[in-house]
Amino acid sequence: MPRQPGVRPLRLLLVAGARPNFMKVAPLLREFRRRPVRFSARLLHTGQHYDEAMSDVFFEELGIGRPEIHLGVGSGSHAVQTARIMERFEQVLGQERPDWVVVVGDVNSTAACALVAAKMTPPVKVAHVEAGLRSRDRRMPEEINRIVTDALSDLLFTTSADADRNLAAEGVDRRRVHRVGNVMIDTLKRFVGRSNGSDVVRRLGIAPPFALLTLHRPSNVDDRATLKRILEGLGRIGQEVPILFPAHPRTIKMMREFGARAEEVPGLRIVSPLGYLDFLHLQKRAALVLTDSGGIQEEASILGVPCLTLRENTERPVTVRHGTNRLVGSDTRAIAREGLRALRMGRTRRRRIPLWDGRAAVRIADVFAALHRNS
Ligand code: UD1
Repeated sequence: MPRQPGVRPLRLLLVAGARPNFMKVAPLLREFRRRPVRFSARLLHTGQHYDEAMSDVFFEELGIGRPEIHLGVGSGSHAVQTARIMERFEQVLGQERPDWVVVVGDVNSTAACALVAAKMTPPVKVAHVEAGLRSRDRRMPEEINRIVTDALSDLLFTTSADADRNLAAEGVDRRRVHRVGNVMIDTLKRFVGRSNGSDVVRRLGIAPPFALLTLHRPSNVDDRATLKRILEGLGRIGQEVPILFPAHPRTIKMMREFGARAEEVPGLRIVSPLGYLDFLHLQKRAALVLTDSGGIQEEASILGVPCLTLRENTERPVTVRHGTNRLVGSDTRAIAREGLRALRMGRTRRRRIPLWDGRAAVRIADVFAALHRNS
């Protein structure tokens, strides 16, 4: 497309910080970079996640290259981590002066960067991808991050109708809200074919049927009694099928602290965190997924794999209504009962959720392009 005289590309600064963010920014970056006349997009990594296995591996696998800017904040309490991100991001933003800051998801990096952008003089506009999700559980740090980020955002991109309703109930001007689908599913659809080539099953020496577990929420793993109840429930499922557990560093640390030994849980097999393609390969072939993550409820639903969510609530009710997800909390008996039932029932059909079709990033870029044309 010939460059129109006087029209410069819209300058976007995309923010990622923790593991689940990387799959969300990848399709956006790809789409913005495909339209260089309209957009100039740069990626900033706060460094909230810093291990090779929690961070670096994803940039290579997802083919988005290294982030242009790295804040290197690392771990800390919520206040320390958030404050560090804010201090360093303010400096960068002062130099970069993008037209928009684009944040994704609900991690500390999301809220911290939105807050800085909104308070710059003059303010830098904020777009939130995956807006409007609510668990209604303010003990979850992510719920606070969602509320804060949405309150500060000028543009809110949602994945589902329930998110639109949540924003309307909070008084958000509906002209700012665009339901576009799910960028995490964009990435899944793009890479699911490629993940077939992963040799993770051979490397780990695991044969189907198996269950796949992720567990790292503070509410589950930072409390000794809760973690014990969950491990007991898992042990019953582990008597039927092996449970593969690519463990988050937080969970390993807490299990050590509580003296909880993996060998005492029948069938539980702990491995290091996996890359995206390996994890997707396993998820697609699992008889059952057990998780307290947000995105995995969505991925399992689209893959048609039964999913038990080890939480009392979900900010993604569409995965329960239309997908394969079921909430079981941390109750030993509920986990065992529903787990064994899911194994008996077997796999279901792949599910369709409106707009979760692999084109969310295209829709988001279209919204920006239309705004830019009209500004
Ligand atoms: C964060 C997100 C959560 C997301 C999760 C995915 C917030 C509030 N939470 O939680 O929404 O589901 O990431 O992984 O932002 N650690 C390492 N290596 C790393 C990263 C973390 O060892 O690369 C350790 C930290 O030292 C810390 C613990 O893991 O002890 C927690 O890390 P943190 O970034 O605070 O939050 P997550 O629990 O990972």
